[in-house]
Amino acid sequence: MIPFKAWRLSRSAARRIGLGRATKLFLLLLCVTQELSASASAEQTQPPLSPLLLSPPASLGSEPCVGSFWPKVRIIRDLETLWEVPQKPKGVLFVAHGCSHQGSDFWQPSARCKHCLGLPEECLVREVALQRGYAVVAVTSFNRTSGCWHNTQAEFSEDLQRLPSILLEVLEEEGLLALQLVAFGASSGGGIVLRLAGIMPDVQGVIAQVVPARPSLLQTTDASRCYPPVLFAHMAAKDPAWAEQVQGALLYCRGAGIPAAEVEIDAQPVTPQLLQRERQVDVQMGEAMVAALRGQGMLDEAGFLKDDPRTTRQLWQAALQPVVGSLSLEPDASGVAQLLNVAYARHELTSDSVDISLAWLEAGGATSLGALLEQQGQALPPLSSP
Ligand SMILES: *[C@@H]1O[C@H](CO)[C@@H](O)[C@H](O)[C@H]1NC(C)=O
Repeated sequence: MIPFKAWRLSRSAARRIGLGRATKLFLLLLCVTQELSASASAEQTQPPLSPLLLSPPASLGSEPCVGSFWPKVRIIRDLETLWEVPQKPKGVLFVAHGCSHQGSDFWQPSARCKHCLGLPEECLVREVALQRGYAVVAVTSFNRTSGCWHNTQAEFSEDLQRLPSILLEVLEEEGLLALQLVAFGASSGGGIVLRLAGIMPDVQGVIAQVVPARPSLLQTTDASRCYPPVLFAHMAAKDPAWAEQVQGALLYCRGAGIPAAEVEIDAQPVTPQLLQRERQVDVQMGEAMVAALRGQGMLDEAGFLKDDPRTTRQLWQAALQPVVGSLSLEPDASGVAQLLNVAYARHELTSDSVDISLAWLEAGGATSLGALLEQQGQALPPLSSP
């Protein structure tokens, strides 16, 4: 079991996003800079802004910068499909949203995708994957009333009947068929990727987040094929029932020879840095938001949320609305609401362990997560209980 409390990758990503607010001009500059540094690794800092960039190339002039050439957006077999391919793709990540959400949450709004919500955690999942060299494909589930995936046997599932051919169409069009395809999903999306890996031989790894991990899901329809490596990310401290299921699934995997691992996602303090994962929040606003929550008595000494923000919504909305102006605080549409859920860590999609999870899948699930963290120079964080 690896504590992820202080794992730092997403901090640097959040810092980059933090740069992205402010004026349109600044956004444009940032975008040009990002284009120039597209091949730079996650750990490199942005090159300094050159005065030359004050007049961007004409080709960038007509496009709002955020989003640039991507995503491509298309309805394929009734389902909205969005994708983005980095310059030298080495793999493909299919990402599956949770209930009440959609594939378009993974990109910022742009001329290419005006309705994209750009939720902070979904965007970070996509950015982390792109940085690692993955093309990212998102699909919106069939049922737009519930917003959930049709998590049932493949022959009856509206989604499972469509997903393999949708993915293959995109991979073929982008010339990605030879690359490793892995899948990430949270909650209802975690259920659908677990099932998808069973019916689609191309899927070579699964990251299933905050989802009941039943051994019956870890079966392939083709008896000659083994179920691929699977990593369960779960919020064990506040979700003990599902944590127990993960232990059961890990035991099952060990017996069945399926490489499997778990990541525990812990609560974290509400800090300006965390809130800045929402790109419309800057340091000042973040600090004011933390102060407002503290003033409302919602944080403990160490800055952790005392209660589930899903049950104290009216309280924190009242505290934060004066501070955030017109920024949305509506559940499932608001980056801030999402980040409070991440801080509380009971049930939410989170980007926090995606990079190490992809590294684990790249190693075929044969290495321990701890060893991978050490290789990456990330010391294991000290155990500190909230
Ligand atoms: C969509 O979800 C709603 C709410 O859960 C459900 O009542 C309905 O039957 C579902 N529709 C389809 C086509 O599955």
